[in-house]
Amino acid sequence: MAEVVIVPDAEAAGRLVAGTILDLIATKPDMVLGLATGSTPLSVYRALADGARGIDVSRVRGFGLDEYVGLPEDHPESYRSVIRRDVVEPVGFDPRRIHMPNGDPATIQTAGDEYEAALRASGGVDLQILGIGTDGHLGFNEPGSSFASLTRVKTLTQQTRRDNSRFFDSVDDVPLHCITQGVGTILRARHLVLLAFGEAKAHALQAAVEGPLTASVPASAVQLHAHATVVVDEAAASEL
Ligand code: GLP
Repeated sequence: MAEVVIVPDAEAAGRLVAGTILDLIATKPDMVLGLATGSTPLSVYRALADGARGIDVSRVRGFGLDEYVGLPEDHPESYRSVIRRDVVEPVGFDPRRIHMPNGDPATIQTAGDEYEAALRASGGVDLQILGIGTDGHLGFNEPGSSFASLTRVKTLTQQTRRDNSRFFDSVDDVPLHCITQGVGTILRARHLVLLAFGEAKAHALQAAVEGPLTASVPASAVQLHAHATVVVDEAAASEL
């Protein structure tokens, strides 16, 4: 069972979660933070940037959840670029300590295993930030993803490509494939923090938190985790 915390708005959620992360950094300066993209975690990153002023965060290690396959690393919408822009630079993390799945098609066959090995060598994620897709996806684990899955290449659904087309000129420019931590990988993090804001997420959130455990709703896997916190606003909680 995940603990559900309903807060007034995304900014309040950001302050709450950033506070938890800063407490962790205080006790473990080289803690491993699991980083998610999307608009949802932005309030956490903003509050973290505020709260980290005057604090040494240079030893924090980070692992990105997922990446598109086939976008050049310096493409503004590659998740490497997004994580750098949204989190690493504003907060002041050391970019050399941030590990992203490698979406280069030339090495994609081995990229999943390499990422898993790096994650294991780090000692594992201390706190994993998660958003949820409108179809219940976690990271880029689309419906049908096994709860035991590890980091691997997946095909994006049409819905996710449509949802993410706002970051590109057109839906045709959204890559067809991605590399993502598996649901099993995500479940190994010591603390999961799933965020959702707005009515558009209410249905997926209800299915994730209260529905049956099913690969059709990958986010329902959070119910299996011993330490999962779901932080939502009233609108996202409206179907609970
Ligand atoms: C993308 C990311 C997910 C994220 C989802 C929701 O598909 N790969 O990790 O949770 O978008 O995005 P948003 O927070 O913008 O709604």
